[in-house]
Order: sequence, then C-alpha cells, then structure tokens
Amino acid sequence: MITINPFSQLSDFIPSIAMQVFVVLMIVLVIVGTFFEMLHKKNIKYFFQNAKKAKQSAIRTLNTGEKTSIIIKTVATDVLTTAELGAGKRRIAHVLGMWGTIIFWITSAIMIFCYSKTDVVTPSIYPLLWHLGAIMTCIGGYWFWLFLRVDVSAEGYPWYRIVRADLFVLSLIITATLGLIWSYLQSENIVGWDTLFLVLFGISNMVLFGGVYWSKFAHMFYKPGAAIQKNLAEADGSNENLPYPSDKPKQFGLGIKREEPKHY
Ligand code: HEM
Repeated sequence: MITINPFSQLSDFIPSIAMQVFVVLMIVLVIVGTFFEMLHKKNIKYFFQNAKKAKQSAIRTLNTGEKTSIIIKTVATDVLTTAELGAGKRRIAHVLGMWGTIIFWITSAIMIFCYSKTDVVTPSIYPLLWHLGAIMTCIGGYWFWLFLRVDVSAEGYPWYRIVRADLFVLSLIITATLGLIWSYLQSENIVGWDTLFLVLFGISNMVLFGGVYWSKFAHMFYKPGAAIQKNLAEADGSNENLPYPSDKPKQFGLGIKREEPKHY
C-alpha cells in the first residue's frame, strides 16, 4: 500500500483530468475563502495600519541587508519550526502536523498532475512520502486534538466537545485519516468500501478547503507575515509600540512563578 500511488489506480475509474480539476477547484476555494475572510475581519488593513504606526516610532532605519537577514532568520525558525510555540509538546505536535500536511499536499499534487495514469510509472518515493505525510498529520493532529488544545488541557472540557473553532484541525485530521483508509482499501481491492471512503475523502477535502472563511485555515498565511513584522519591529526599536522592557519577570516577585506559562 505504502508504495502504491492511489491516484494512478483510481484513474481506471476517474479520468486524471477530473482529479486535476478537483485540485484546481480546491486551490480556488482557498484563495476565495482567504480573500473574503480578510475583507470580513479587516486583519490585513489592521496589519498595515499597525506597521505604519510602528514605523513612525522606529529608533533606527534598517538597511536592505539587515532586513533580508531578519526575514531569512524568521522564516528558518519562527515559520519553518513554529518557534512561537516554545520548546514543548505543542511545538512538536504542530511541526509534525504542519510538515505532514505540506508533504501530503505537495505529493498529492505531483502524483495527480504527473503520475495519475496507469501507463505511467510513479517513482515509489512519492506514494511513500504521501502516506508518511498523512501519518505525520494524524500523529500531530490527534495529539493536539485529544490532549493539547486549550479547551481540553486548560479549560477541562472533554475532547469530544466540538465548537466552530475546531473546524480546521478536525477537517485536517479527518481528511488525512480518510485518505489513508481509502488508500489501504483500494490497494487491497476491497471493492465497494474503497468507493465509499473515496467519496468521504473527497467530501472531507471540500469541507477543509471550502471552510477557509469559517476556520483557522488562513493562519498559515498570516502567521509568517506577523512573525516577520514582529522581528523587524524589534530590530528597528519600534517594538510594535509596546513598552520596553517587556521581558523581566524577576522584578515582579516570586508570584510570577506560581504557574508555568503554557503558550497558547
Ligand atoms: C501547512 C501549514 C500549517 C498547518 C497544516 C497548520 C496546522 C495547525 C493546526 C491544525 C492548528 C490547531 C488549530 C486549532 O487551534 O484548532 C494550528 C495552530 C497554530 N499554528 Fe499552524 N499550521 C500551519 C502553518 C503555521 C505557520 C506557518 C505558523 C507560524 C508561523 C503556525 C502557527 C500556529 C500557532 C501559533 C498555532 C496555535 C497553536 C496552539 O494553540 O497551541 N502555523 N496550526
């Protein structure tokens, strides 16, 4: 199963072009959903207003070299390894889920656009990475969903209490899970069940990509921008108009140590 391209087998029943159109449609849904979310929340407007205001209180002007170096460092740590989440379990779970999803999406696109015909041989690295990506997404996602998210770990709600804010993480892990089950059923030729799980896999993708407007999906576009802006503001002295020093807990006495911060 793990080295079989499930989309190539599927092309016996569904033409490659139909799969490709489905992928394009999902991309369009993400673009449209993010656009309307930006319009609704006005977050981009606020982001640029804030950046402009902060620029006015900058103590020094950064040259292009300094800016480039800050952006590269931010991408390497804050974005690619989600440094914002500290050094604990949340970061490991997020890195697993984020990279798993990225690998799953990229290999899906490669296999659908380049190898979704039975007469074309798929290099086994792509299906291998596809399955690995889905498994990583499940490990990081279920770990987060069952144990780490604030509702469960801090608020004491049971894991099965679902609210709208859970739409993103739930649709993400359900999509990865259904993808794996469908691939298994298809590789074992379990006729009927494989079709059912293919349909469920398709629907879960539509919920994930069609739900961008209502879910936390777009954070993957906003967060990198915010991290770059924060680090540039620290370097030019404007510090996003926040007071200095903002990181000297010792002077506030031992009470600050009563409870460990949990990073959410
Ligand atoms: C493909 C890319 C990504 C995926 C699949 C992904 C996935 C997720 C998921 C499933 C959650 C949990 C959402 C919830 O609260 O229900 C989450 C939260 C979060 N993500 Fe991402 N993410 C991605 C990219 C990023 C990037 C690029 C950053 C930062 C630069 C980031 C920072 C965060 C933060 C800070 C949280 C809050 C975590 C918490 O509450 O513990 N994410 N992400």
